[in-house]
Amino acid sequence: MLSNSLVSRESFVMKTVAIENLTQKQDELVDAAIAVLETAYNPYSRYFVGAAVLTRSGAVFSASNVENAGYGSTICAERMAIGKANSSGARDIIAIAVTGRSDNFEKSEITAGPCGSCRQVIYEFSQVSGCDIEVILATADKANVAVTTIEELLPYAFGPKQLQMNISKYS
Ligand code: THU
Repeated sequence: MLSNSLVSRESFVMKTVAIENLTQKQDELVDAAIAVLETAYNPYSRYFVGAAVLTRSGAVFSASNVENAGYGSTICAERMAIGKANSSGARDIIAIAVTGRSDNFEKSEITAGPCGSCRQVIYEFSQVSGCDIEVILATADKANVAVTTIEELLPYAFGPKQLQMNISKYS
């Protein structure tokens, strides 16, 4: 690391939360993500991801990952859930829970964090809702849970502001 780096190591430490310390709403969102995990269409990776988004009005939309023989055409669970919320007329997203597990290895203690593309999409919707979307990462057995936010996961993000775009009519 360059000596004048502004990035401190501490910022990468995952803050884990004991399940009993989650709010009821956070816990329900994790459960909604877990509930769709097994619906993943994942013949290629056998990796299961469930995501559930919460809108400001309290609605929950959940989805799993959908893979494709053209690997690059795979759609992650997070983007499926956000698309589902949007096409249901709800895009004021304030939180998202993500969970994952694999058929290829024993249960992991590592929570599944959203991939880079999903972080970018979550960031876009944080600009629509006008709030730093809470991101709850949980192992499928809820033994490990971390609570963070999209601005923490994607600092110095590129968004509508960089394009001097006014997206307020989409809120
Ligand atoms: N996956 C997600 O659904 N979300 C992520 O943020 C990371 C990866 C899916 C895509 C693919 O179906 C499988 O997990 C393995 O990459």
